[in-house]
Amino acid sequence: MSNCNASSIWVSMMDLRSRFLEGMSRAATFVAVVTTDGPGGRDGVTVSSLTSVSADGEAPALLACIHHQSPAAVAILKNEAFCANLLHESQQAVAGRFATRGERGERAARFQGQGWAPGAGGQPQLAGATAAFHCKLATALLWQTHYIIVGQVSAVDLSDEPAALLYGQRGYRKAVDLE
Ligand SMILES: Cc1cc2nc3c(=O)[nH]c(=O)nc-3n(C[C@H](O)[C@H](O)[C@H](O)COP(=O)(O)O)c2cc1C
Repeated sequence: MSNCNASSIWVSMMDLRSRFLEGMSRAATFVAVVTTDGPGGRDGVTVSSLTSVSADGEAPALLACIHHQSPAAVAILKNEAFCANLLHESQQAVAGRFATRGERGERAARFQGQGWAPGAGGQPQLAGATAAFHCKLATALLWQTHYIIVGQVSAVDLSDEPAALLYGQRGYRKAVDLE
């Protein structure tokens, strides 16, 4: 293969990647902080990849995709449990805090002052989260850069405030009723 072909394939892969990112940025999603605690340590990370898998299996199941270098992913794999805290529309600051890379001490500071306490199953639960899904790790698949982490849901806490924080077109948003 000539250099010319190699470089045009590279350019077209970069173009595909940027078009993929732009396309996905248009898909508004809800925002969750996935937390874990146990022998692997306490950790958490902001995700937009939280997705329902099924309500009707042996138990309800959900998944999240988390970068393999995230210490939160490593801790979830060791702790074999996590809580998916679906953020309320007022909790943008929490999303920002858990989306900032940090060293060990700074990571612990992520949990300060936000009303975190062990929920059903012992995983960190955020006061005021619109829903908290308490999960046992069912399976995890490393697909290239990300772990696809599947959780078997053992309990769900629902707050009285159902409006979830959204993220789309590279910004935080709220859902509004259409005419
Ligand atoms: C709204 C939003 C959604 C995100 N969704 C994901 C996601 O689904 N998976 C992921 O691995 N990172 C996601 N991130 C990026 C991580 O939160 C961010 O990279 C964080 O710094 C990772 O920290 P860590 O690697 O120190 O755990 C998201 C960030 C934001 C702001």
